[in-house]
Amino acid sequence: MNYARIAGTGSYLPEKILTNADLEQLIDTTADWIVERTGVEERHIAAPDETTCDLAERASRRALDAAGLDPGDIDLIILGTTTPDHIFPSVATQLQHRLGCYGGPAFDVQAVCTGFVYAMDIANRFIRTQAAKRALVVGADTFTRIINWKDRGTCILFGDGAGAVVLEAAEEPGIIDSRLGADGRYKELLWVPAGVSSGYEQTRQDAAFVEMRGSEVFKVAVTTLKEIAEQILIANRMTVADVDWVIPHQANRRILAATAKRLGLPEERMVDCVRTHGNTSAASVPLALDVAVRDGRIQRGDTLLLEGFGGGFTWGAVLAKY
Ligand code: COA
Repeated sequence: MNYARIAGTGSYLPEKILTNADLEQLIDTTADWIVERTGVEERHIAAPDETTCDLAERASRRALDAAGLDPGDIDLIILGTTTPDHIFPSVATQLQHRLGCYGGPAFDVQAVCTGFVYAMDIANRFIRTQAAKRALVVGADTFTRIINWKDRGTCILFGDGAGAVVLEAAEEPGIIDSRLGADGRYKELLWVPAGVSSGYEQTRQDAAFVEMRGSEVFKVAVTTLKEIAEQILIANRMTVADVDWVIPHQANRRILAATAKRLGLPEERMVDCVRTHGNTSAASVPLALDVAVRDGRIQRGDTLLLEGFGGGFTWGAVLAKY
Protein backbone atom coordinates (compact mmCIF):
# COMPACT_ATOMS: atom_id res chain seq x y z
CA MET A 1 0.00 0.00 0.00
CA ASN A 2 2.76 2.41 -0.86
CA TYR A 3 1.18 4.52 -3.55
CA ALA A 4 -1.52 7.20 -3.58
CA ARG A 5 -4.43 6.93 -6.00
CA ILE A 6 -7.20 9.39 -6.83
CA ALA A 7 -10.31 7.92 -5.19
CA GLY A 8 -12.67 10.79 -6.08
CA THR A 9 -12.87 14.37 -7.32
CA GLY A 10 -15.25 17.25 -6.68
CA SER A 11 -15.58 20.93 -7.41
CA TYR A 12 -17.73 23.96 -6.81
CA LEU A 13 -18.28 27.25 -8.60
CA PRO A 14 -20.20 30.15 -7.00
CA GLU A 15 -23.59 30.93 -8.54
CA LYS A 16 -22.94 34.47 -9.71
CA ILE A 17 -21.49 34.75 -13.21
CA LEU A 18 -19.66 37.86 -14.43
CA THR A 19 -19.60 38.05 -18.23
CA ASN A 20 -17.35 40.04 -20.52
CA ALA A 21 -20.39 42.19 -21.33
CA ASP A 22 -20.62 43.01 -17.60
CA LEU A 23 -16.94 43.98 -17.62
CA GLU A 24 -17.53 46.32 -20.56
CA GLN A 25 -19.70 48.33 -18.15
CA LEU A 26 -16.96 48.45 -15.50
CA ILE A 27 -13.73 49.16 -17.39
CA ASP A 28 -12.45 50.42 -20.74
CA THR A 29 -12.45 47.13 -22.65
CA THR A 30 -14.42 45.09 -25.16
CA ALA A 31 -15.69 41.50 -24.96
CA ASP A 32 -13.85 40.77 -28.23
CA TRP A 33 -10.52 41.99 -26.81
CA ILE A 34 -10.89 39.80 -23.71
CA VAL A 35 -11.81 36.67 -25.71
CA GLU A 36 -9.05 37.20 -28.26
CA ARG A 37 -6.29 37.83 -25.69
CA THR A 38 -7.38 35.46 -22.94
CA GLY A 39 -10.13 33.04 -24.10
CA VAL A 40 -12.20 33.94 -21.01
CA GLU A 41 -15.91 34.59 -21.69
CA GLU A 42 -17.24 34.44 -18.15
CA ARG A 43 -16.10 33.76 -14.59
CA HIS A 44 -17.84 32.94 -11.30
CA ILE A 45 -17.75 35.37 -8.37
CA ALA A 46 -18.32 34.39 -4.74
CA ALA A 47 -21.30 36.01 -3.01
CA PRO A 48 -20.36 38.74 -0.46
CA ASP A 49 -20.95 36.34 2.46
CA GLU A 50 -19.35 33.32 0.74
CA THR A 51 -15.77 32.55 1.77
CA THR A 52 -12.96 30.32 0.53
CA CYS A 53 -13.87 27.77 3.21
CA ASP A 54 -17.49 27.70 1.96
CA LEU A 55 -16.32 26.88 -1.56
CA ALA A 56 -13.80 24.33 -0.25
CA GLU A 57 -16.44 22.56 1.83
CA ARG A 58 -18.80 22.10 -1.11
CA ALA A 59 -16.03 20.79 -3.39
CA SER A 60 -14.75 18.48 -0.63
CA ARG A 61 -18.16 16.94 0.08
CA ARG A 62 -18.56 16.21 -3.64
CA ALA A 63 -15.11 14.59 -3.78
CA LEU A 64 -15.92 12.47 -0.72
CA ASP A 65 -19.22 11.36 -2.32
CA ALA A 66 -17.41 10.46 -5.54
CA ALA A 67 -14.91 8.41 -3.52
CA GLY A 68 -17.72 6.71 -1.57
CA LEU A 69 -16.12 7.84 1.70
CA ASP A 70 -17.25 9.64 4.84
CA PRO A 71 -15.40 12.63 6.30
CA GLY A 72 -14.37 10.38 9.20
CA ASP A 73 -12.24 8.32 6.79
CA ILE A 74 -9.96 11.33 6.13
CA ASP A 75 -6.75 11.53 8.18
CA LEU A 76 -5.02 14.46 6.42
CA ILE A 77 -6.23 17.75 4.88
CA ILE A 78 -3.99 19.95 2.76
CA LEU A 79 -5.46 23.02 1.13
CA GLY A 80 -3.87 25.38 -1.40
CA THR A 81 -5.06 28.97 -1.15
CA THR A 82 -3.91 32.58 -1.33
CA THR A 83 -7.19 34.00 -0.08
CA PRO A 84 -7.82 32.39 3.33
CA ASP A 85 -10.88 33.40 5.38
CA HIS A 86 -8.59 34.63 8.16
CA ILE A 87 -4.88 35.34 8.67
CA PHE A 88 -5.15 32.38 11.01
CA PRO A 89 -6.34 29.72 11.71
CA SER A 90 -5.87 28.05 8.35
CA VAL A 91 -8.77 27.25 6.03
CA ALA A 92 -7.77 23.57 6.27
CA THR A 93 -8.44 23.45 10.02
CA GLN A 94 -11.82 25.16 9.56
CA LEU A 95 -12.68 22.76 6.75
CA GLN A 96 -11.77 19.88 9.06
CA HIS A 97 -14.13 21.32 11.70
CA ARG A 98 -16.99 21.66 9.20
CA LEU A 99 -16.50 18.10 8.01
CA GLY A 100 -16.15 16.89 11.60
CA CYS A 101 -13.05 14.72 11.05
CA TYR A 102 -10.84 15.80 13.94
CA GLY A 103 -7.30 14.86 14.93
CA GLY A 104 -5.26 14.43 11.76
CA PRO A 105 -2.97 17.16 10.44
CA ALA A 106 -4.65 19.98 8.50
CA PHE A 107 -2.77 22.87 6.95
CA ASP A 108 -2.78 25.41 4.12
CA VAL A 109 -0.15 25.69 1.42
CA GLN A 110 0.63 29.07 -0.11
CA ALA A 111 2.01 28.70 -3.63
CA VAL A 112 -0.57 30.94 -5.33
CA CYS A 113 -1.85 29.29 -8.54
CA THR A 114 0.40 26.25 -7.94
CA GLY A 115 -1.13 25.71 -4.49
CA PHE A 116 -3.12 22.59 -5.40
CA VAL A 117 -0.19 20.93 -7.19
CA TYR A 118 2.03 21.66 -4.17
CA ALA A 119 -0.67 20.16 -1.92
CA MET A 120 -0.91 17.02 -4.09
CA ASP A 121 2.86 16.54 -3.99
CA ILE A 122 2.92 16.82 -0.19
CA ALA A 123 -0.12 14.56 0.33
CA ASN A 124 1.44 11.96 -1.97
CA ARG A 125 4.57 11.96 0.22
CA PHE A 126 2.49 11.51 3.40
CA ILE A 127 0.72 8.52 1.88
CA ARG A 128 3.85 6.97 0.38
CA THR A 129 5.60 7.13 3.75
CA GLN A 130 2.46 5.69 5.41
CA ALA A 131 1.97 8.81 7.53
CA ALA A 132 -1.59 9.06 6.15
CA LYS A 133 -4.06 6.69 4.50
CA ARG A 134 -6.70 8.98 3.05
CA ALA A 135 -6.02 12.63 2.27
CA LEU A 136 -8.35 15.40 1.24
CA VAL A 137 -6.41 17.69 -1.10
CA VAL A 138 -8.09 20.98 -1.98
CA GLY A 139 -7.46 24.06 -4.10
CA ALA A 140 -9.80 26.93 -3.19
CA ASP A 141 -9.67 30.65 -3.79
CA THR A 142 -11.86 33.73 -3.71
CA PHE A 143 -9.19 35.41 -5.78
CA THR A 144 -11.52 38.16 -7.02
CA ARG A 145 -11.38 39.59 -3.47
CA ILE A 146 -7.79 40.70 -4.12
CA ILE A 147 -8.46 42.05 -7.61
CA ASN A 148 -8.40 45.75 -8.40
CA TRP A 149 -11.58 46.17 -10.44
CA LYS A 150 -10.14 49.34 -11.98
CA ASP A 151 -7.15 47.47 -13.45
CA ARG A 152 -8.21 46.17 -16.85
CA GLY A 153 -4.99 44.19 -17.23
CA THR A 154 -5.89 41.83 -14.34
CA CYS A 155 -9.63 41.96 -13.52
CA ILE A 156 -10.57 40.32 -16.83
CA LEU A 157 -8.65 37.14 -16.00
CA PHE A 158 -9.69 35.86 -12.60
CA GLY A 159 -12.66 34.04 -11.04
CA ASP A 160 -13.53 32.17 -7.83
CA GLY A 161 -13.97 28.45 -7.20
CA ALA A 162 -12.77 25.29 -5.48
CA GLY A 163 -11.72 21.79 -6.46
CA ALA A 164 -10.89 18.77 -4.33
CA VAL A 165 -9.39 15.32 -4.66
CA VAL A 166 -9.46 12.40 -2.23
CA LEU A 167 -6.18 10.50 -2.35
CA GLU A 168 -6.01 7.06 -0.79
CA ALA A 169 -3.30 4.47 -0.23
CA ALA A 170 -3.10 1.82 -2.95
CA GLU A 171 -0.87 -1.03 -4.00
CA GLU A 172 -0.25 0.41 -7.47
CA PRO A 173 0.06 3.96 -8.77
CA GLY A 174 -1.91 6.23 -8.68
CA ILE A 175 0.56 9.02 -8.58
CA ILE A 176 3.62 7.98 -10.55
CA ASP A 177 5.74 11.05 -9.83
CA SER A 178 5.46 14.68 -8.79
CA ARG A 179 7.88 17.57 -8.96
CA LEU A 180 7.83 21.11 -7.57
CA GLY A 181 9.92 24.22 -8.14
CA ALA A 182 10.15 27.92 -7.41
CA ASP A 183 12.18 31.01 -8.32
CA GLY A 184 11.66 33.98 -5.99
CA ARG A 185 13.46 36.41 -8.28
CA TYR A 186 10.19 36.90 -10.18
CA LYS A 187 8.27 38.29 -7.18
CA GLU A 188 7.30 41.62 -8.70
CA LEU A 189 5.95 40.26 -11.99
CA LEU A 190 2.89 38.95 -10.14
CA TRP A 191 2.21 39.93 -6.53
CA VAL A 192 0.22 41.78 -3.89
CA PRO A 193 2.57 44.38 -2.38
CA ALA A 194 0.78 44.78 0.98
CA GLY A 195 0.95 42.15 3.69
CA VAL A 196 0.80 41.27 7.37
CA SER A 197 4.44 41.93 8.14
CA SER A 198 5.28 44.56 5.54
CA GLY A 199 2.13 46.48 6.51
CA TYR A 200 -1.20 47.26 4.94
CA GLU A 201 -0.85 51.03 5.05
CA GLN A 202 2.72 51.23 3.87
CA THR A 203 2.18 52.31 0.31
CA ARG A 204 -0.54 53.18 -2.13
CA GLN A 205 -4.23 52.62 -1.52
CA ASP A 206 -4.33 49.81 -4.10
CA ALA A 207 -1.35 47.90 -2.66
CA ALA A 208 -3.65 45.23 -1.24
CA PHE A 209 -4.56 44.06 -4.76
CA VAL A 210 -2.90 41.91 -7.40
CA GLU A 211 -0.33 43.64 -9.59
CA MET A 212 0.91 41.90 -12.69
CA ARG A 213 3.24 42.50 -15.63
CA GLY A 214 1.09 40.40 -17.95
CA SER A 215 3.19 39.93 -21.05
CA GLU A 216 6.30 39.04 -19.00
CA VAL A 217 4.33 36.52 -16.92
CA PHE A 218 2.97 35.08 -20.15
CA LYS A 219 6.44 34.26 -21.52
CA VAL A 220 7.72 32.60 -18.33
CA ALA A 221 4.47 30.62 -17.95
CA VAL A 222 4.68 29.10 -21.43
CA THR A 223 8.37 28.21 -21.10
CA THR A 224 7.92 26.74 -17.62
CA LEU A 225 4.79 24.69 -18.41
CA LYS A 226 6.62 23.13 -21.37
CA GLU A 227 9.80 22.44 -19.39
CA ILE A 228 8.15 20.84 -16.36
CA ALA A 229 6.07 18.56 -18.58
CA GLU A 230 9.17 17.42 -20.43
CA GLN A 231 11.22 16.96 -17.24
CA ILE A 232 8.70 14.73 -15.49
CA LEU A 233 8.06 12.68 -18.63
CA ILE A 234 11.77 12.14 -19.37
CA ALA A 235 12.42 11.17 -15.73
CA ASN A 236 9.76 8.48 -16.05
CA ARG A 237 10.84 7.33 -19.53
CA MET A 238 7.61 8.53 -21.06
CA THR A 239 6.69 10.87 -23.89
CA VAL A 240 3.74 13.14 -24.57
CA ALA A 241 2.25 10.26 -26.59
CA ASP A 242 1.92 8.25 -23.34
CA VAL A 243 -0.27 10.92 -21.71
CA ASP A 244 -4.02 10.80 -22.27
CA TRP A 245 -4.86 14.14 -20.65
CA VAL A 246 -2.86 17.21 -19.69
CA ILE A 247 -4.65 19.29 -17.05
CA PRO A 248 -2.76 22.60 -16.89
CA HIS A 249 -3.33 25.64 -14.73
CA GLN A 250 -6.13 27.52 -16.50
CA ALA A 251 -4.30 30.84 -16.83
CA ASN A 252 -5.18 31.91 -20.34
CA ARG A 253 -6.25 30.13 -23.57
CA ARG A 254 -3.21 31.46 -25.42
CA ILE A 255 -0.86 30.10 -22.74
CA LEU A 256 -2.51 26.68 -23.03
CA ALA A 257 -2.39 26.70 -26.83
CA ALA A 258 1.28 27.80 -26.92
CA THR A 259 2.22 25.12 -24.35
CA ALA A 260 0.40 22.38 -26.28
CA LYS A 261 2.13 23.45 -29.49
CA ARG A 262 5.59 23.45 -27.93
CA LEU A 263 4.98 20.01 -26.43
CA GLY A 264 3.63 18.60 -29.70
CA LEU A 265 0.41 17.77 -27.84
CA PRO A 266 -2.89 17.85 -29.78
CA GLU A 267 -5.00 20.56 -28.11
CA GLU A 268 -7.94 18.12 -27.79
CA ARG A 269 -5.91 16.24 -25.12
CA MET A 270 -5.53 19.34 -22.96
CA VAL A 271 -8.43 20.04 -20.61
CA ASP A 272 -9.43 23.67 -21.14
CA CYS A 273 -12.01 25.36 -18.90
CA VAL A 274 -10.67 28.88 -19.42
CA ARG A 275 -13.79 30.03 -21.31
CA THR A 276 -16.17 29.53 -18.37
CA HIS A 277 -13.89 29.52 -15.30
CA GLY A 278 -11.22 32.13 -16.00
CA ASN A 279 -8.16 31.78 -13.77
CA THR A 280 -9.36 30.51 -10.37
CA SER A 281 -5.81 30.35 -8.94
CA ALA A 282 -5.28 27.25 -6.73
CA ALA A 283 -8.72 25.91 -7.71
CA SER A 284 -8.02 25.86 -11.42
CA VAL A 285 -6.35 22.44 -11.80
CA PRO A 286 -8.71 20.40 -9.56
CA LEU A 287 -11.72 22.19 -11.08
CA ALA A 288 -10.63 21.26 -14.61
CA LEU A 289 -9.82 17.73 -13.48
CA ASP A 290 -13.27 17.28 -11.95
CA VAL A 291 -15.03 18.70 -15.02
CA ALA A 292 -13.26 16.23 -17.31
CA VAL A 293 -13.89 13.30 -14.93
CA ARG A 294 -17.60 14.09 -14.63
CA ASP A 295 -18.18 14.67 -18.37
CA GLY A 296 -16.58 11.28 -19.06
CA ARG A 297 -13.47 12.42 -20.93
CA ILE A 298 -11.15 11.09 -18.21
CA GLN A 299 -11.60 7.36 -17.65
CA ARG A 300 -10.10 4.99 -15.06
CA GLY A 301 -6.68 3.84 -16.30
CA ASP A 302 -5.96 7.09 -18.20
CA THR A 303 -2.57 8.71 -17.71
CA LEU A 304 -2.85 12.30 -16.47
CA LEU A 305 -0.36 15.13 -16.31
CA LEU A 306 -1.38 17.96 -13.94
CA GLU A 307 0.59 21.20 -14.21
CA GLY A 308 0.65 24.30 -12.02
CA PHE A 309 2.26 27.72 -12.42
CA GLY A 310 1.85 30.80 -10.27
CA GLY A 311 3.18 33.79 -8.38
CA GLY A 312 6.61 33.51 -6.80
CA PHE A 313 7.14 32.10 -9.35
CA THR A 314 6.15 28.59 -8.32
CA TRP A 315 5.48 25.58 -10.49
CA GLY A 316 4.86 21.86 -10.28
CA ALA A 317 3.70 18.76 -12.12
CA VAL A 318 1.97 15.55 -11.06
CA LEU A 319 1.99 12.47 -13.29
CA ALA A 320 -0.72 9.94 -12.38
CA LYS A 321 -2.79 7.00 -13.53
CA TYR A 322 -6.42 7.82 -12.85
N1 COA B 1 -9.01 45.68 -22.68
C1 COA B 1 -8.49 46.40 -23.68
N2 COA B 1 -7.18 46.71 -23.75
C2 COA B 1 -6.38 46.26 -22.77
C3 COA B 1 -6.87 45.49 -21.70
C4 COA B 1 -8.24 45.20 -21.68
N3 COA B 1 -8.81 44.48 -20.71
N4 COA B 1 -5.85 45.17 -20.89
C5 COA B 1 -4.75 45.70 -21.43
N5 COA B 1 -5.06 46.38 -22.57
C6 COA B 1 -4.19 47.12 -23.46
C7 COA B 1 -2.92 47.58 -22.79
O1 COA B 1 -3.13 48.76 -22.07
C8 COA B 1 -2.01 47.77 -23.97
O2 COA B 1 -2.31 49.01 -24.57
P1 COA B 1 -1.14 49.95 -25.13
O3 COA B 1 -0.50 49.16 -26.24
O4 COA B 1 -1.89 51.17 -25.59
O5 COA B 1 -0.24 50.20 -23.98
C9 COA B 1 -2.45 46.67 -24.95
O6 COA B 1 -3.75 46.27 -24.50
C10 COA B 1 -1.52 45.47 -24.97
O7 COA B 1 -1.20 45.14 -23.62
P2 COA B 1 -0.40 43.87 -23.25
O8 COA B 1 -0.29 43.77 -21.76
O9 COA B 1 0.88 43.81 -24.06
O10 COA B 1 -1.38 42.75 -23.82
P3 COA B 1 -1.20 41.21 -23.90
O11 COA B 1 -1.43 40.72 -25.27
O12 COA B 1 0.06 40.76 -23.19
O13 COA B 1 -2.45 40.70 -23.03
C11 COA B 1 -2.82 39.78 -20.85
C12 COA B 1 -2.57 41.05 -21.65
C13 COA B 1 -2.89 40.15 -19.39
C14 COA B 1 -4.15 39.21 -21.30
C15 COA B 1 -1.69 38.76 -21.13
O14 COA B 1 -0.44 39.38 -21.01
C16 COA B 1 -1.75 37.58 -20.22
O15 COA B 1 -2.71 36.84 -20.18
N6 COA B 1 -0.64 37.33 -19.48
C17 COA B 1 -0.55 36.20 -18.57
C18 COA B 1 -1.27 36.52 -17.31
C19 COA B 1 -1.48 35.33 -16.45
O16 COA B 1 -1.82 34.27 -16.93
N7 COA B 1 -1.28 35.52 -15.16
C20 COA B 1 -1.51 34.52 -14.18
C21 COA B 1 -0.43 33.51 -14.21
S1 COA B 1 -0.64 32.39 -12.89
